[in-house]
Amino acid sequence: MLDSLDGGASSEGSHGAIGSLTAAQRLKEQSNTLNSARRRYGILARILFGSLDLVYGKPRTLSKFRVLELVARVPYQSWEQVAYIAITHVSDRVSMARRIHDRVLEARQQQDNEQWHLLLLEELIDGEGIKESFLLYTVLPQIISFIYYQVSVLLYVIRPSLSYRLNADFEDHAEHEYMTMVTEHPDWETRPFHSQFASEYGHYQSLADLFRQIGYDERMHKLESESRMKEPRFR
Ligand SMILES: [Fe+2]
Ligand SMILES: [Fe+2]
Repeated sequence: MLDSLDGGASSEGSHGAIGSLTAAQRLKEQSNTLNSARRRYGILARILFGSLDLVYGKPRTLSKFRVLELVARVPYQSWEQVAYIAITHVSDRVSMARRIHDRVLEARQQQDNEQWHLLLLEELIDGEGIKESFLLYTVLPQIISFIYYQVSVLLYVIRPSLSYRLNADFEDHAEHEYMTMVTEHPDWETRPFHSQFASEYGHYQSLADLFRQIGYDERMHKLESESRMKEPRFR
């Protein structure tokens, strides 16, 4: 039924969001997420999620998701950096350097996708006039991101699959949290989505529809990290 309500309001043609789903497909993807078990999170992921709950509270607020998105870009930045260094070391082997460069592009795409999520959240928070503590929502996320960056690089150096696994846990958590947040806001089903970023991230028929797309993006990030866990070394 939702298909007929789309009225052209899909993300098709945009490059900010992943895929080109209809509103009905996004609704189905939400229920797929909610009916699927979460990954068994590793110790580092549990420490991270527990710390975030402790500092920002358990309720799923837009401000808390903004912090998540600030942190979400970090592994991709670290992998991009590691890949650049690897290219320097193998620059005499052109085809291998080229394959590593493809990893750089992949990391950049995901990073940009997270960046759109962040901008959309910032826009919403601004629009709602939500006041945020400078210490908790500006300073602390930068400290968390700095530590997370070091952890992501260190894990990559020890064993790349560990770094991908931590990110898969992070993305799985984000996917489930976004899809659950939508169920907690039935009014978002009829709240229109207007954004200065619509030409890049796509047009959505409601705020709920937008967040379903973001949740779907997070699942795609998770799946990519899971596939990298199986074949993690540059070769
Ligand atoms: Fe995200
Ligand atoms: Fe993500």
